[in-house]
Amino acid sequence: MKEDIQKTKTQLIEELGSLRKKLTECEEKGSMLLPVEQALRDGQVQLDRIMSSAMDAIISIDEDQHILFFNAAAEKMFRCSNAEALCQPLERFIPERFRHKHSQHVEVFGERHVTNRQMGQLGVVYGLRGDGTEFPVEAGISHVEISGKKIFTVILRDITERTLAEEVVQKHEQALVRNQEELRALTAQLLTVQDEERRRVSRDLHDDVNQRLAALAVWIQTYQNTTAAAGHDTEPIQSLHQQVVTLSDDIRRLAYQLHPSILDDLGLPVALRAWSIDFSKREPLAVSFLTRNVPNEISQPVAACLYRVTQEGIRNVAKHAKTNHASILLAGTKRSIGLCVADFGEGFSPTDTRNRRKGLGLASMEERVRLVGGNFRVKSQRGRGTHIHILVPHSR
Ligand SMILES: Nc1ncnc2c1ncn2[C@@H]1O[C@H](COP(=O)(O)OP(=O)(O)OP(=O)(O)O)[C@@H](O)[C@H]1O
Ligand SMILES: [Mg+2]
Repeated sequence: MKEDIQKTKTQLIEELGSLRKKLTECEEKGSMLLPVEQALRDGQVQLDRIMSSAMDAIISIDEDQHILFFNAAAEKMFRCSNAEALCQPLERFIPERFRHKHSQHVEVFGERHVTNRQMGQLGVVYGLRGDGTEFPVEAGISHVEISGKKIFTVILRDITERTLAEEVVQKHEQALVRNQEELRALTAQLLTVQDEERRRVSRDLHDDVNQRLAALAVWIQTYQNTTAAAGHDTEPIQSLHQQVVTLSDDIRRLAYQLHPSILDDLGLPVALRAWSIDFSKREPLAVSFLTRNVPNEISQPVAACLYRVTQEGIRNVAKHAKTNHASILLAGTKRSIGLCVADFGEGFSPTDTRNRRKGLGLASMEERVRLVGGNFRVKSQRGRGTHIHILVPHSR
């Protein structure tokens, strides 16, 4: 009996010893864990601060789509306190018509291998504030698995102001397009009216004023003959006759410039050749004129367009290119007519809008070509000259 007691006592002392040893070990481990615990606590505080100071709303939900985390920005964005939001279903913050689709999206996303979708990748979605108002948001989503359970985190950015600004910009852009269309229609009308007016004035000058001047010249000539027969001085009458003839020539030229009847009577190539020869006589610019396969039948609007555009192109060479040579090429294909007015003079920068704003020539050329359904292109480079290419369908 005494032996048993001794044995138990010895065992107890041994066990006590090992317990003491274990206790010392635990104390040592515990003191080693202290900094780790502190770091964890610090990390948690830091994370909480980051989450609550984030500008974007951050909401975490469990697999059943109930809210586990709702940061300060989410409180502000959804006008709902953290206490009210926690444990609530996420759909509370989604407009009713999107709820079903949204919860399906989250489920499908959870089953995929992709663990995150960047901000904006989901397109614009809508949120529902505590007061029932809807607002557009841009969202990103990610999921992680913790202890076998999925946790989804949604990051949301309120884009109400951006959307409003975009709407304003869009409205302005639409108004601008409308204004441009109106301006184009107005320009087209203006060009048509101007052409008709030129044609009318030209006809009046040619058929009326010039005929009367011709009659006056004949009358003066007769008077001069009578005066000469009577032996009087005819010099003043001769001078008067000469002035009337010169005036008649000037008026014919003016009428021709306003609208060349030759264009209607003999066609575009003849009219352009005559004009370029006349231009070279008046200006220090040699103009070479080439034609290739030009069809006989060119509609009047197309012919008038190409005639006016060539005139403006050549006038521009004389005015701006600082060269003494320009060329015109008029070539026909099965369906279209191409025109190229070229020089190897100074050149300019066609993309520089300041050049476009200097005058009306280029703009009216482009508009005329557009009116007959054609294509207008200016190729120019400083020091390398300017090429104007136009392609229009035969008839319009
Ligand atoms: N062949 C060219 N060579 C060099 N510069 C040119 C040529 N054609 C046009 N430009 C430049 O482009 C600008 C715009 O030409 P545009 O014909 O529109 O106006 P403009 O000739 O100045 O005036 P407007 O034609 O109204 O009398 C010109 O001022 C000139 O700087
Ligand atoms: Mg011009």
